[in-house]
Parts: sequence; structure tokens; C-alpha cells
Amino acid sequence: MAEKKFERNLLCIGAGYVGGPTMAMIAHKCPQYKVTVVDVMAEKIAAWQTDDLPIYEPGLLELVKSCRGKNLFFSTDVEKGIKESEVIFISVNTPTKTFGEGAGKSADLQYWEKTARDILRVSESDKIIVERSTLPVKTAIAMERILSLNEKGLNFEVVSNPEFLAEGTAIRDLEKPDRVLIGSKETESGLKARQAIVDIYANWIPKSNLITSNQMSSELSKLVANSFLAQRISSINSISALCEKVDADVREVANAIGKDSRIGDKFLNASVGFGGSCFKKDILNLVYLCETYGLQDVAEYWEGIVKINDYQSTRFVQTIMKAMFNTITNKRIALFGFAFKANTSDTRETAALSVTKKLMMEKAHVVISDPKAIKNAKNDLKDYGDDIEYEEDPYKAAKGAHAIAIATEWDLYKTLDYEKLYHDMEKPAFIFDGRNILDHEKLFEIGFEVHPIGRPPLIHFKEN
Ligand SMILES: NC(=O)c1ccc[n+]([C@@H]2O[C@H](COP(=O)([O-])OP(=O)(O)OC[C@H]3O[C@@H](n4cnc5c(N)ncnc54)[C@H](O)[C@@H]3O)[C@@H](O)[C@H]2O)c1
Repeated sequence: MAEKKFERNLLCIGAGYVGGPTMAMIAHKCPQYKVTVVDVMAEKIAAWQTDDLPIYEPGLLELVKSCRGKNLFFSTDVEKGIKESEVIFISVNTPTKTFGEGAGKSADLQYWEKTARDILRVSESDKIIVERSTLPVKTAIAMERILSLNEKGLNFEVVSNPEFLAEGTAIRDLEKPDRVLIGSKETESGLKARQAIVDIYANWIPKSNLITSNQMSSELSKLVANSFLAQRISSINSISALCEKVDADVREVANAIGKDSRIGDKFLNASVGFGGSCFKKDILNLVYLCETYGLQDVAEYWEGIVKINDYQSTRFVQTIMKAMFNTITNKRIALFGFAFKANTSDTRETAALSVTKKLMMEKAHVVISDPKAIKNAKNDLKDYGDDIEYEEDPYKAAKGAHAIAIATEWDLYKTLDYEKLYHDMEKPAFIFDGRNILDHEKLFEIGFEVHPIGRPPLIHFKEN
């Protein structure tokens, strides 16, 4: 049978949380394009070809199945993919650098640079390169310069198109994004490349949601968006500490300020702290950028957001310690949730990890429960071996426990039978609600000692 002719060949390098879902959405919405996703990790590519995808995201499997094998393909053959495509999306990982100059703050661009070199070496025709990874400002320009040094006479246009999806709601975010940002050079060829990318998204996104800018504004907007989002969380978390001191209720404060249309009510839930692969890394990247340009005061301002986040998880464990009579050694503590947020299996930078490490330092007997993230949790905590227990069933995890600590806001935890859990726990039975998702008064009536975030605790056993 003759191979089907497609209008364009699109390639994505990097089949992770961004590359997989984004390209599946493009393939689904644009059957006229052939979409190929490549990655150096053969295991990951193999998983994308099964129903057991390498990442969990609501609606993703259905989306992938709707076009896999028709116009969506997964492969490890990076070179072939580059040769055959006119447009190359790059969504490789850009973690925080752990060594040398900028260690602990700047982005590690080794994976990014490797893709640039691969493209330069293998390409036989002009290409548009689309930056999907989050990168330091001016990376697009630097990459364009490197690529233009080719001796084959090829033209490469580098367009910045940062991804704003949130894990857990990625499919909805990709289908109906608040905006898609496309930054290019403002030369004739740059504007032509910009239009080519606009045309792809215009297949399903209204023109008014497709915004354009120069490359630097686009790159910087991604760092700033994540820094502002994280700032909201650290702001309300810092206030939660004050609420606990003055007997205010952070939920009431959040509700009152959120009604102000200038402030808005989103991202005002106090919690044990933000996680995920991006917030901390992107803020630190912004901090490094400010330091590089000598803006020390600006850098310190943004760095404070990360400090408050660390403070919040430390405070959570301090609350556990203090409430449980200053010792948790050998006490069974069931940690409900390990994913960095609900509806994902992703555990990168999860607050649950720092909480677990602190509990282990106090020699607690930690049991981790999570509906989707046990596999990743085991990998993150492999150094602890059998010292940590893993139990997907929350009832089994809490059986015989002295305390339950909620670390992820899974809906599941709102609907558990807390009478039954209480019955099976050691007494006094403690609940530390690190996400403020439970009915604290009801738990107190059942008999629990209840410690929310940013609200006075509900305790039966007063010290005097
Ligand atoms: N995860 C998110 O929610 C999110 C949201 C917006 C933006 N981002 C940004 O998108 C980028 C990717 O993030 P992610 O979460 O998808 O990362 P990820 O680690 O899930 O995926 C990156 C993939 O790239 C592959 N890769 C690395 N170098 C490669 C190479 N030379 N050739 C082929 N494949 C290669 C890795 O094997 C990995 O599978 C990052 O810059 C991140 O900051 C992430």
C-alpha cells in the first residue's frame, strides 16, 4: 500500500511530559500533518506505543489512541526524524545545573545543546526550530547563530513557543489554552517562520488566543509566568504561618482577598508547599538571570519565594513533631499522596519528598500511599530501601498508624471513611492536613487531633 502523503512533517525531540501530550494534541487536531516524537530513551518510546504510557495524565491515553499509528508516531531514530521534518519542536529537559558556574540556579543546557548539534549535523534542508523547553533568555538567538554557521547553506529559523500547560490538566490546557505565545525574529524570514507556527495552532485555537512577540519577550514570559504563579503560593503560605499564630483562618483570609477582582481567587490555597519540575527551577533561572545582569535586589526578591517554600515544608514537619509530643521515632506515619499535585504521577520536586526525608531523619516509620505515584516514589526514595513502606490502599497504609499526613490533594482522600481509619489507628490519632482538603470539624468529632495549615488546630488533649 502506498504511504499516505501528509501536508507537513513535524518532529518533536523529547517525549516527556511536554513533548508527548503536546504532539498528541497537534496530531489529533491536524490529521493533515505527520507528527513524529523521538527520544533517546528507548524504554520511554516503547511505553508510548502501548496502553501503559510513560506518564499519567487524565485523557491522555484516549488522545494518543485516537491518532497513534495514523499520523502520530513514536521513535528512537532521532536522525531520521530530523532529516524528514520541516518543523522541529524541541522539548528536552532543562534542569537546574548542579555543577560549575551557575550551579544550583542556572539552567543546565547540555541536552538542549546536544539537540542543536544533532540538527546541525544531520539536516539536509531548511528548518524551523521551535523552542518548547523553558530556556534562559536569548537562547533562541544563540541557537540560531550556531545553526547558521553550517557549511551546507541551510537556513534555520528559531522560534520560541514556551509551553504553559499544567500537569494534571494538560489535555484541557492544550485543547483550550489561555494563550499560545510565539516569539520570533522580526525580520522577513523570522516573521514567515512565526506565521508557519501560528498556522499550526490556528487549526483549533482562536486567533485571539495566539499571541506573538520577539524571541526574548517570549522566553522571559515563561520564566515570569511560573515565578508569578509560585509567588502566589508562597505569599499565601507565608500568611498561613501568621494565621496559626493569631488564630485567623487562612481559608477565610484567602476568600476575602480573592473577592477583590484585582487579586482574584486562583492559586490562593495554603499548603505544604509547591512542587513540580518547573516552579523552583524557573524561579532560580530568573534569579540567575537577574544576578548576571547585576540586578541583585531583584534577584533577592524572587529568591525569597523559594525560601518560603522550603520553610513551609520544614514548618509542616515541625508541627507534626510538636503535636506528637516531640518524638516520632518508630511511630507509623501514613503519608497520603506523594505526587507533587493531584491527577499526575509526577513526583519531581514534590513537597512530599522533603517531608518524607525530614520524617526519616526523626526515625519515623513512614508509609507512603498514592493512587498513581508509588512507582516514582520508590525510585525517588530508593536510598532508604526497606525502611520505607509503600501501600497504595490508604486504609492499609493507615492501619496501626499514629498519624496521617495529607501531602497531595487527590479527591480520593476527601471521600475516605475516616471513622474506619480512626478505628484502626493508634490513639491519640493525628491528622495533619497539608492541603486543607478535609472537613476538619468532622474529623475532630470522630476523635482525631486535627492540624490544618493556617488554621488553629482542633485538639482534644490540651497541654494544661
Ligand atoms: N512538565 C511540565 O509541566 C512543563 C510545563 C511547561 C514547560 N516545561 C518545560 O519543558 C521542557 C521539558 O519538560 P518535561 O517535563 O517534558 O521533561 P521530561 O524530562 O519529561 O522530558 C524530556 C525528554 O527529553 C529527552 N531528551 C533529552 N535529551 C534528548 C536528546 N538529545 N534527544 C532526544 N531526546 C532527548 C529525555 O530523554 C526526556 O524523555 C523543560 O524545559 C521544562 O521546563 C515543562
